[in-house]
Amino acid sequence: MSKAFHDQLVAARDKRHSKNHPFFELWAQGKLTKEQTAFYCTQHYHFVGEFLNWLAFMASQIPERDVKNYLYENLGDEENPDDRHLDMLKDYVAASGVDRNSVESSILLGGTEQLQNWGWMMVYRKPWPVAAAGLFIGLESQFLDICKKIVPALIEHYGYQARAREIRFFEEHIYADEIHGSKGFAIVEKYCTTPELQAAAIRQVEDATIRRWRYMNNIYWYALHGKEDDTPVLSA
Ligand SMILES: [Fe+2]
Repeated sequence: MSKAFHDQLVAARDKRHSKNHPFFELWAQGKLTKEQTAFYCTQHYHFVGEFLNWLAFMASQIPERDVKNYLYENLGDEENPDDRHLDMLKDYVAASGVDRNSVESSILLGGTEQLQNWGWMMVYRKPWPVAAAGLFIGLESQFLDICKKIVPALIEHYGYQARAREIRFFEEHIYADEIHGSKGFAIVEKYCTTPELQAAAIRQVEDATIRRWRYMNNIYWYALHGKEDDTPVLSA
């Protein structure tokens, strides 16, 4: 039962995993400019900024000590004042030739804003074990595989040294998210105790991957073609 649930969560995530998005395919092949990869980071910044707020909100709502502890631990890693993850992200942006201080004020694409708002609705409205599935498995656990795809390309195609400060953000998440990911799965599997909660969790993971995929679509069209939305262009 539990093994089947675990496998279903993984299958739900992998059906539309953002690591397979054309944007990351191009990145892995070294076909994006450094500036385009830095643009991705600006949207990741807007997304993860809210992700951290979701963790804090959930920690304030959930009485179970093990889950609360895990949320604070995860948040503590992210927000460690001496080594903040979002500062590592800015290091990469700066290394790409883009002003690190432009990240906060960068455009908020529609897909990114949708992902932010969808996340808030999830943590407000869904039973917390279901929201945890969306957060930890549907969203967070994807980043590990995304980084595994990108890091070799950063070294092979973009001229960075392994373990260089500039690409630490991506390398660090291979390690950090391996740990976070398995703990996230363990919590979801422990607390989705009924068939109904399990079914809802699987659906939530699928929904999360769809939101993240749309966010990637928007990043692709803006970074490569300057298109902010799908406004039709009429021929004369
Ligand atoms: Fe992080």
